[in-house]
Amino acid sequence: MTRPRDPESNLVTSPPGPLLTRSGQEASSLFALDPALRHLNHGSFGAPLVAILEEQERLRREAAAAPVRWFPAAATRVGRARAAIAPHLGVSPDQLALVVNASAGASAVYGSLDLPRGCEIVVTDHGYGAVTMGADRLARRLGGRVVVAEVALDDSPERALAAVLGAFTDRTAMVVVDHVTSPTARELPVAEICAAARTRGVVSLVDAAHAPMLIERAATLADADYWVGNLHKFGCASPGAAVLVTRPGLEEGLWPLIDSWGGSLPFPERFDHQGTLDITPLITAGSALDLVEDELGWDRVRAHTAALADAGQALVAAAMSRATGVDCLARVASPATAMRLVTLPAGLGTTVDAANALRERVLADLGIEAAFTSCRGRGYVRLSFHAYNVLDDYADFADRAVPHLVDLARREGDAVTSTGAHGIPVVGL
Ligand SMILES: Cc1ncc(COP(=O)(O)O)c(C=O)c1O
Repeated sequence: MTRPRDPESNLVTSPPGPLLTRSGQEASSLFALDPALRHLNHGSFGAPLVAILEEQERLRREAAAAPVRWFPAAATRVGRARAAIAPHLGVSPDQLALVVNASAGASAVYGSLDLPRGCEIVVTDHGYGAVTMGADRLARRLGGRVVVAEVALDDSPERALAAVLGAFTDRTAMVVVDHVTSPTARELPVAEICAAARTRGVVSLVDAAHAPMLIERAATLADADYWVGNLHKFGCASPGAAVLVTRPGLEEGLWPLIDSWGGSLPFPERFDHQGTLDITPLITAGSALDLVEDELGWDRVRAHTAALADAGQALVAAAMSRATGVDCLARVASPATAMRLVTLPAGLGTTVDAANALRERVLADLGIEAAFTSCRGRGYVRLSFHAYNVLDDYADFADRAVPHLVDLARREGDAVTSTGAHGIPVVGL
């Protein structure tokens, strides 16, 4: 461990105040979150907007009242939503299909590709488990394998690029890389990776689950062959709304996960047909993006979350450093603007299961929702920052969760088990 830094030097002197709507209400009034819960984990499942939930309910009732009128027209509504969403992401509506989540987008790509037998698919050790598992299944089906490129937390973008390209062999057919990594909250140099892959004839898939609205024009920036992003994370759409963006020239080989009545249509219209399904998250997603723009302004949300992330991470890291006597400000190269890591006391959260148990434990004991992750045997708390968060949220974490975590590390270490109401094994979030 490095020597402790002066914790006070981490404190920010002028933290941002609460973000207000155009009519002067606190931004939190737009969200359906339980006010009794400290929600520092927007990164896992987002948080939907009250007005959008109401609009969905109205649409569901409309569908329930006249199903045979409603469902045949559903694809037209999805097409309209696509047109409303595309300008927010800075992409042409012709290059963008709507899917229910980032995992479904990745699965649609895996299912559409015609990769050679015995090929290799390169992923990184920061990849989202479910998307990496999909790559693994595809590779094994072809008698090939997944190759994991190892990227250190503090590797510069240049070193991260070199690590990924260093895993390429003459059998590499595809690279799957995260725009913003889930366990480590860092940005990867996706534009450089995709450009290098293209010159080598390697297909690129960018898992940008966290990127829409967090990173402006993220899909254009990455210029991947295939790019998937959730609108229900930073974009605040209701759960079940995501996009799949592809480069011109590749559309015709791309097929939806669900074979439905769009089969004879070109891309992206063929994705508008999803069978019988609750498509209200998709068709209200454009309204969610508009609502945040109208009430708060996406530029203001991005500025607020970036400033709050600097202040909140510094505050929690200072408290953790004071309590443990070692520097706990995680050194992450290219950190995400709205998710940050603080290092946990030694012995806590060293595996994915142990980190998940901590999440449940902190929620059950303190009513604080935060993500815990593990990377190379070291545990971290991953703090998220969104429009509704205020500095008090992180001060509360510093005051109550930090001593609790230090105490758990002393008494139980990674024998910590979940005492939460759920008690269900969960996968990495
Ligand atoms: C990087 C990354 N990819 C994919 C996903 C999966 O998202 P979904 O469950 O919406 O498909 C997540 C979820 O947190 C993620 O962080």
